[in-house]
Amino acid sequence: CGIVGYLGYRDAYPILIKGLKRLEYRGYDSAGIAIHNGKEIHYYKKKGKVSDLESISDVAPHDGKMGIAHTRWATHGEPSDTNSHPHTSQSGNLFLIHNGIIENFHSIKEALLSRGFKFYSETDTEVLVNLIEDIQQAEDCSLEMAVRQALNQVIGAYAICVFDKRNPNEIVVAKMGSPLVIGLAPDEYFIASDATPFLEYTKKVVYLQDGEMALIKKGAPLVIKEISTNLPINPYIQQLQMDIEQIEKGGFEHFMLKEIYEQPRSIRDTLRGRLLPEQGLINMRGIDEYKEKFLNANRIIIVGCGTSWHAGLVGEYMIEDLVRIPVEVEYASEFRYRNPLINEKDVVIAISQSGETADTLAAVKLAKSMGATIFGICNVVGSSIARETHAGAYTHAGPEIGVASTKAFTAQITVLALMALKLGYMKGTLSESRYMRLLIELNSIPEKVEETLKCDPITRYLAEIYKDSNNALYLGRGYNFPVALEGALKLKEISYIHAEGYPAAEMKHGPIALIDENMPVIVIAPKSDQYDKIFSNVQEVKARKGKILAIVNHDDEDIASIADHIIEVPETENIFSPIINTIPLQLLSYHIALLRGCNVDQPRNLAKSVTVE
Ligand code: G6P
Repeated sequence: CGIVGYLGYRDAYPILIKGLKRLEYRGYDSAGIAIHNGKEIHYYKKKGKVSDLESISDVAPHDGKMGIAHTRWATHGEPSDTNSHPHTSQSGNLFLIHNGIIENFHSIKEALLSRGFKFYSETDTEVLVNLIEDIQQAEDCSLEMAVRQALNQVIGAYAICVFDKRNPNEIVVAKMGSPLVIGLAPDEYFIASDATPFLEYTKKVVYLQDGEMALIKKGAPLVIKEISTNLPINPYIQQLQMDIEQIEKGGFEHFMLKEIYEQPRSIRDTLRGRLLPEQGLINMRGIDEYKEKFLNANRIIIVGCGTSWHAGLVGEYMIEDLVRIPVEVEYASEFRYRNPLINEKDVVIAISQSGETADTLAAVKLAKSMGATIFGICNVVGSSIARETHAGAYTHAGPEIGVASTKAFTAQITVLALMALKLGYMKGTLSESRYMRLLIELNSIPEKVEETLKCDPITRYLAEIYKDSNNALYLGRGYNFPVALEGALKLKEISYIHAEGYPAAEMKHGPIALIDENMPVIVIAPKSDQYDKIFSNVQEVKARKGKILAIVNHDDEDIASIADHIIEVPETENIFSPIINTIPLQLLSYHIALLRGCNVDQPRNLAKSVTVE
């Protein structure tokens, strides 16, 4: 989501609307605005793009020198006018915009319901604004104090911006996990998720840090405090040098690179509120609701296209391994046209980043009409596939702009891992001790991804060496066979080098004929019970003079000793290793494409979301 705020002497409306448009890359399924003119509030919300909001707000009153605005990318509750921000408190006094996820909103909501609060949306944000009001009323305290107390009860990620309509000269903002920057100019303040909305007015900024809140008051200096202690913090004022485009990309050269680097966060967001290792729990309401269907399924069929299909293959290994239910993975386009045998004992899992891919949507409709239970794994909340399914789990990867999918893929695998663990434990096919071990390891994956990203310089160096190849072969076994497919797809998509992914052992049934000193062979070979097997495959390549680039764990000796190049990655449980091993392959493709002068974010002939057959 994107948030914008203004408090000063200019008309807030054009600043807020233009700001929202610049933040639309952060998500755009609904938008809203609240402007205070000293007497009354102009308050408009609309599902759709910022231009849809404009079509109503442009022709309605919108004067005022203070206001807040929001462009939403749904995480809780489908995109709708009601679920759009700003949200107001029950009395109508408080207006709040929020970017992030409040994990414990259910319990807070229940407490507020029991105290007579009513809720009109399905959002966690409406819970937060009412919690603030509840405290404000009970303690008869300032808005700032009520916000502080409320945030001390909240678990999750947020950047918020809130005002009380009885006091048009004051805005309170706070940050934990989601970005928030304050722009400073004489007699005016700007607030936004990044600095793009206000760059033409000021380049003097303060980036709020996690756990900090600020009181923004007309005619007064900025006051920053620590949320937990209420102690004041000296604002660190910076002078920005970046241009607008650079800031949208978070300082990265391309969206793809930004999204690769976002993976520790996107995986953490996908796990947030679901994985509770200390309690030995996985929360997934969609699975609880359809528990019987899952546990008694004759088989599970996973459908998807492109990268999402690759995530499905990883899911097949995970579910068969931990849940012991037969799994089939199919291209949605094949599934829908082959007159498949489906009945009410089948569970179909549809995986789609966009939730709009035409073939996947058609496959879902077909399976549904034949009585199957449909579970969706989508990134875009309220998308067509998400709406068509019986239940599901969203990946909280945030908007993916680069056409070649990166963070959506690792988030999809993360959801599949959660599902396999939860189902395996419920079914009793996964022992308590293994379950607990896996929960703890899964919880450490965001950190390990962070560590894996340190291979960026080496992938850049290797890209120089391999950039002029005409072909490439990717090999993996077991959990890392789908990673080989995904690595090859990434290279094809953005660098236009022909690449194939293969199960390492299958190589000798065909691709081995292609191997000579010009053929780079990328081998995904972490420690696993198939390590010795893949070591033999590497030797087979070596014997034919193929160039070997191996992805190995830090203490590897055998494969490392015969490979031409290695990329070292942290060790993890085999089942989670696809998440780790995909990272260097994404980076390698990125750097090769860049060196070949390709358009990384918008490769030729491809579309981000394929809504035609
Ligand atoms: C397009 C994109 C791919 C994506 C595929 C499936 O081909 O370029 O990156 O994997 O569609 O998209 P979905 O949104 O259904 O995951």
